[in-house]
Amino acid sequence: MQHNTVFLIGFMGSGKSYWGNIWSQQAGIPFYDLDTVIETQQQKTIAQIFEEKGEAYFRKIETSALENFTGNNHTIVACGGGTPCFNNNMKWMNSNGITIYLKASPGEIMMRVKNEQAQRPLIKNLQWEELLPFIEKKLEEREPFYRQAKYILPVSSLSQTTINNILANQ
Ligand code: S3P
Repeated sequence: MQHNTVFLIGFMGSGKSYWGNIWSQQAGIPFYDLDTVIETQQQKTIAQIFEEKGEAYFRKIETSALENFTGNNHTIVACGGGTPCFNNNMKWMNSNGITIYLKASPGEIMMRVKNEQAQRPLIKNLQWEELLPFIEKKLEEREPFYRQAKYILPVSSLSQTTINNILANQ
């Protein structure tokens, strides 16, 4: 079967890498995590890139890394939480593959990221009580981008076979 590239988008902690891994095995196609691709290329962690070169630089290399995945790659790509919101990346992904938004609530996101703040530059320096308000505000800013996805799937509804229905409809 011919598959387009599948781009998984959503806020950090929404399970893009987790489900990307599972679904790629289910569909028998390769899986890439965009952050990992960037870390391998740059030989630095995402946190180091933000610290040493700043967010604007990261967004530039993030777009270049993304654009290597054209529509006929037949892969699943887990994007970073901010990928759809910069440099017209959302429009590019919609023209070059199938976009799936893994939609999580601020509460669900907080539960998933609260123990991983150190690796996540955007929330690294927040106090505990600042975390939920930050997630709520950022999610509201980003939703207009995320909502442009072809499929919007609440994270609570996902299963190993979710991907089969989507690929069968292409
Ligand atoms: C970011 C999310 C991260 C990573 C970087 C910026 C964001 O990816 O790309 O820290 O802007 O939300 P994950 O969503 O995989 O954590």
